[in-house]
Amino acid sequence: MTWRASVLTLFPEMFPGPIGQSLAGRALEAGRWSLDTVQIRDFATDRHRTVDDTPFGGGAGMVLRPDIVDAASASVADDRPRVFLTPRGRPFVQADAMRLSAGPGVVLLCGRYEGVDQRVIDAGGWEEISIGDYVLSGGELAALVLLDACVRLLPGVMGAAESAEEESFSAGLLEYPHYTRPADWQGRLVPEVLLSGHHGAVAAWRRAEAERITRERRPDLWAAYQRNHGSVASRAAAP
Ligand code: ADE
Repeated sequence: MTWRASVLTLFPEMFPGPIGQSLAGRALEAGRWSLDTVQIRDFATDRHRTVDDTPFGGGAGMVLRPDIVDAASASVADDRPRVFLTPRGRPFVQADAMRLSAGPGVVLLCGRYEGVDQRVIDAGGWEEISIGDYVLSGGELAALVLLDACVRLLPGVMGAAESAEEESFSAGLLEYPHYTRPADWQGRLVPEVLLSGHHGAVAAWRRAEAERITRERRPDLWAAYQRNHGSVASRAAAP
């Protein structure tokens, strides 16, 4: 079965957008996944095609109506996980991409305006996911980010080289730096060990660099890594 993504949105023209290019785009053309969009506005019932209303309790902005979101989602209803993209959601991490890509696909709900009536989110079993601690003007870009992260993990989408790289991130460390020719570029030299031909030394250097960069840039990931790898990581951390 093809991995299927359905996106409920007021801006279907935004899809596939940038992920229609490159790796995910080629995989889409090759039929390794499929993408369909649902225009939420098509499920409005009045002649102005209204989809939102003012918030109960007052305040700025408009809220997407539950009956309209429900009708739109019923049009693609099946057993796929449902994800509502919102800055209020749990943070999206690589483990989510792995979990979602291992399933039959995903139904994504993109919010606009101030939000979506919470009752339809709760009733529909929507998982609320955020792609980061900043506020976008809608869920569409977040949906594209989520889709790209999932699609590249589908069988046959990535080459062998990228798969190996994937594992290194999943191990909980940021990646080591990369270098290619020329070995001397504007007086900046490639680290000697990478020219040595000693595979063991290269692997050790890369591991040490990955650990150093993770420690410096992401103390949160580093702490988790140390918990998971116990004494090995602690030894490597020693100055
Ligand atoms: N919609 C607006 N901002 C968002 C974010 N950071 N993540 C997911 N969906 C969003």
